[in-house]
Amino acid sequence: MVLSTGSKKIKTAVFISGTGSNLKSLIKFSKLKKSPISIEMIVSNNPKSKGLTFGKIHKIKKNIFNFKKQASAEKEILFKLKKNKINLICLAGFMKILSKNFILNFKGQILNIHPSLLPKYKGLNTHEKAIKNKDEYSGCTVHFVNSKVDSGKIIIQKKVKIKKDDTPKSLAKKILYQEHKLYPKAILKISNL
Ligand code: GRF
Repeated sequence: MVLSTGSKKIKTAVFISGTGSNLKSLIKFSKLKKSPISIEMIVSNNPKSKGLTFGKIHKIKKNIFNFKKQASAEKEILFKLKKNKINLICLAGFMKILSKNFILNFKGQILNIHPSLLPKYKGLNTHEKAIKNKDEYSGCTVHFVNSKVDSGKIIIQKKVKIKKDDTPKSLAKKILYQEHKLYPKAILKISNL
């Protein structure tokens, strides 16, 4: 479906706010021959994001924007994305909500990874909620981004069993491990290279 630039790799930007472990796994994936993406830019709203170090290690351009002035930050980001001919945006632990206008500029080209089995538990504290509700399973979802938070079309999900002694921390760790495998799978699924 959707993503194809002929035989060339899809120029991708990854947006992060924190640790960047999903960014790390996407970079690893992007270097595989079978990968349809090349990561050209890292965008962060947080200059202290640990994930920014991956930009340095892998020589990927990093861009930090101050989202306190979101409208002007988005304007600048859009300019840079277009300048770098970015065709795909992967949100990976990006903690800001992009405006409708921004999303419209990349309609059908923004993906997000969320640590729950959507449509269950949109927003924050997903692991706490799943444990509190005594769910048998939680998991993770990769979906397209639309203007409603965590509500766009689902691309792929992975279920993770919740054990009796799981804490939000232990569950988060198990799910994150699956996230690292799921994001590349989602990208392969929507690309037709
Ligand atoms: C992940 O659990 C992701 O699903 C959520 O935030 C976390 C980010 O982790 N949106 P990392 O920064 O990729 O390590």
